[in-house]
Amino acid sequence: MTEIFSKINQAQTTAELEEIRVLVMGKKGSLTARFATLKSCKESEKKALAKELNSIKIEFEKALADKKEQLTLKELEAKLNAEKIDVSLFSPSSQKGANHPVMLMLDRIVEYFVGMNFSLNVGPLVEDDFHNFEALNLPKYHPARNMQDTFYFKDGKLLRTHTSPVQVRTMESQKPPIRMICPGSVFRCDYDLTHTPMFHQVEGLVVEEGRDSVSFANLKFVLEDFLKYMFGDVKVRFRSSFFPFTEPSAEVDMSCIFCKGSGCRVCSHTGWLEVLGCGVVDNNVFKAVGYENVSGYAFGLGVERFAMLMFGVPDLRAFFESDLRILEQFK
Ligand code: DAH
Repeated sequence: MTEIFSKINQAQTTAELEEIRVLVMGKKGSLTARFATLKSCKESEKKALAKELNSIKIEFEKALADKKEQLTLKELEAKLNAEKIDVSLFSPSSQKGANHPVMLMLDRIVEYFVGMNFSLNVGPLVEDDFHNFEALNLPKYHPARNMQDTFYFKDGKLLRTHTSPVQVRTMESQKPPIRMICPGSVFRCDYDLTHTPMFHQVEGLVVEEGRDSVSFANLKFVLEDFLKYMFGDVKVRFRSSFFPFTEPSAEVDMSCIFCKGSGCRVCSHTGWLEVLGCGVVDNNVFKAVGYENVSGYAFGLGVERFAMLMFGVPDLRAFFESDLRILEQFK
C-alpha cells in the first residue's frame, strides 16, 4: 500500500489519479480483491480483517481526494493561462459602434457654448417641487404641474420636466457672474410623433451683477450666432411669448432649412421653424434664490428637435427604438 500512496503523491494529472483509483478500487482493483477474500475468510479473523481493509480504504480515499483537489486547481490555472485572450489583438471583422444621433447633436451644441465661455453644469433628475416649479415662478395652480405632464413620486418628488431647475440650483450655490449651460434628460408623460416620455434639453443661464448689465440684446446676439453655427446661413426671428421664469419672453424661429423659407410640410408652410425658448430672467426667480441687483437671460432648447431637423428625421420615436438600421446611418 505504501507504494500506492507514493504513486498518488507523484501523480501529475487528475487522469493519472483516476488510473490509480481503478487499479485499487475498480472492479478488478487490488483492494477490491482483498475485500472479496472476506467471504471465504475464517469467522474468527473476519472482523479484524474487515476493520483493517476499511481503514486502508478510508486512508486511500482521503489521499486521493486531497491530491485531486491540488491537481484540479493546478489544471484550472493552466487552462486559464492557455485560454488567455489578448483583447488588444487586431480583429479585421470587429464591428465599430457609433455615437447616437442625439448625442452627436448634443456634442455640437455644447461645443458652441463652451467656445463662448459657458461652463457646463448638471443637476438631479429627481427634483422637488421648489426647484422644478416654485422657484421658477410657476405657482401652485399653474397648468404645467398637471399630473398628465409630470411624473410624480408618492413622496411628492418628481422627475424634472425641464432643465430649468438647474438654473435655480446654480444660483443657490454660486454668486454672479454666471455663464452656464446644462444639458440633460427631462421627463414628461407624453408619447406621439414629436414627443417621448424622456428627451433632452439644454438650458442656458447668464447672470451678472447690476440691474442693466445683461440685456435682451446680448441674448439675441448669442442665440442668432448659435443658430448660424449650427445650421449655416439661416434667418432668425424673435417672437414675443410667455414663460413664467422670464419677462420679457420670446420664442425663437429660424427660416426653414428644408424649403429655405418658401414653405413646405416640415414648417407647416410658414417658412419658419420654432427652435428655442428664451427671455430675460424674471425678478421673481432672482428673489427665490436671494439674488438682488442683478440681471440675466436664460434659454432652453430641445436636443431631439434639433437632431430631427439636422438629420431630417420625421419621427422622434426613431431615436429611441434602437433600430440598428437607422442608428448605423449616423456613423
Ligand atoms: N423650460 C422651458 C421648457 O421646458 C424651456 C425654456 C424656455 C427655458 C425659456 C428657458 C427659457 O430658460 O428662458 O419648455
